[in-house]
Amino acid sequence: MTKPTILLTYPIHAEVIRKELAPRARVRIARSPAALRREIAHADGLITRVFDPVDEALLSRASRLKAVGNFAVGLDNIDLTACARRGIRVVNTPDVLTRATAELTLTLLLAAARRVPEGEALCRSGRFKGWQPDLLLGQQLQGRRAVLVGKGRIGTETARLFQALGLTITWITRKDSENTIRAKLARAQILSFHCPLTPDTRHWLNHSRLQCLPADAIVLNTTRGAVIDEKALISALKSHRIFAAGLDVFEREPRIPAALRRLPNVVLLPHLGSATAEAREAMARLVIRGVLAILGGKRPWNEVNP
Ligand code: GLV
Repeated sequence: MTKPTILLTYPIHAEVIRKELAPRARVRIARSPAALRREIAHADGLITRVFDPVDEALLSRASRLKAVGNFAVGLDNIDLTACARRGIRVVNTPDVLTRATAELTLTLLLAAARRVPEGEALCRSGRFKGWQPDLLLGQQLQGRRAVLVGKGRIGTETARLFQALGLTITWITRKDSENTIRAKLARAQILSFHCPLTPDTRHWLNHSRLQCLPADAIVLNTTRGAVIDEKALISALKSHRIFAAGLDVFEREPRIPAALRRLPNVVLLPHLGSATAEAREAMARLVIRGVLAILGGKRPWNEVNP
C-alpha cells in the first residue's frame, strides 16, 4: 500500500515527526503560503498552525485532501463548513494544552497584579535606587472576584488555579442577558477570556462593556486577540480606567500596536499559552495520530464536529 502524503506548514516537532509520522507517511513541509498553495494538490493530509488559513481558496486546490490537523485547540483559522462540504475531516489538540494555558493565564495575572514588567524594567535599566515603602505597589489577590468568559476545559482549569489563590469565581455564559453581563462586569476585579473566537465573541469586550469594569480591574486574554477591541482596551489602560491587562494574544497578531507596547500597565507575551515542552510534544503526537487515524478510516477522539 502506498503511504499517504502529509503536508505540514511547519516541522512542528522533529522527534515526533521522525518517530510517529515519517515511518507511516511521505512527509512534506510547505514553508511559505506559496509553497502551501503549490503542494496542497498532492496532500492527503495537512497539518497547520493557528494562523494558517484553511479556507475555500486553499481547499479548492486540495483535490486529494481527506484530513486536516490543526496544531492548536482553536479552530478559527479553519473553515469547518467548507471542509465538511468537501468531506475533509478535521482534528485539533484539546486537553493536552489545557494545563499549560491555564498556568500561563495565572502567570499573566500575577505579573499584572504585582507590576512585574515595571519592576523588571527598573532593574534592567540600572535606575533601581533601593527599597522604598511606596515603590510599585500592586494588588494582593486573595479574596478578589474573578469573572471568566468561556467555561470549557481551559476556563475550568484556570478557575481551579484561581481558586487556589483564594479568588472567587463567577462565569459569564452565552445565556446571560446584556444586563446580567454588565452587572457581572461591574464586580469583575479580574476578567479572563477562555472562549473561542467566533462571530459572536469578536470584540466581546468593547468600549461600552469596558466602562462597566471597576477601576482595580485586571483584564487577561490567552484565547484570541480579537475577542477584545484592542483600541478600546488601550484607551482604558492609558486613562487608568482599569488597573492593568495581561495579554498573550493580539488582534492583528503578530502586530502589537506601538501604543500598547508603550504602556507600563500591561504584560505582553508572544502567544505562549501552550508553549511548554510537555504540551507541544503531546500536541504533536495528538495531531499526527489524529490525521493518520482519519486516513486509516478510523474516527479519532479529537475529531471536530462541524
Ligand atoms: C493556540 O492558540 C491554540 O488555539 O491552541
